[in-house]
Amino acid sequence: MDESALNRGVHRLTLSDSTKRCLEALREAAGVDEGPIERHSARVFFIMERLATQASIRIDREVAACAALLHDIGLYEPAASARFYLRHGRDSAQEIIDAFSWSDERTRRCLDAIELHHRLRPQWNAGAEVELLRLADLVDASRGVVTLDLDRSWLRSLFRAIDRRGLQRELLRHSLRGAPCMTRGAIGILLNAPRRTVHP
Ligand SMILES: [Fe+2]
Repeated sequence: MDESALNRGVHRLTLSDSTKRCLEALREAAGVDEGPIERHSARVFFIMERLATQASIRIDREVAACAALLHDIGLYEPAASARFYLRHGRDSAQEIIDAFSWSDERTRRCLDAIELHHRLRPQWNAGAEVELLRLADLVDASRGVVTLDLDRSWLRSLFRAIDRRGLQRELLRHSLRGAPCMTRGAIGILLNAPRRTVHP
């Protein structure tokens, strides 16, 4: 991957007003610009886009970008635990997205993508963005151990262009509040990881 093309891609990611607002909200919650979760979220979006292109799946890019940016925002809820952070994430995202003039269907798909991204089973029925976020998060969080149909050299370029520094520490810091549950969840997700993007 040409890294300057990826950087232009990051700018494309922030072009719409809705996407900009989601990025601002993530930065406000994290208390930092371009922190580990923001970089993870950007990589997740690019992986979603790549998987969609490779499998010839049409996605709503703005819904996908907003879902990717907000999918881990629940980690920053003061009352969140590993068990409930997905629900907190959905609620926080809803407050942000309700200010957009989105249809009920787009809002539902974005919020489902956030809440269901640790499900063990495919979520195509909830929408392509929902399942692609689940798969992309798995690829990035596993450091590319799970690659699906992605080319390893493309993934390495992505990890170089948007570095992974601090991600494990950040996830561990937030997951300590519910470590046993998070660990069980992570093992379950990895054991159920698909080898390919299988679109019904
Ligand atoms: Fe994530």
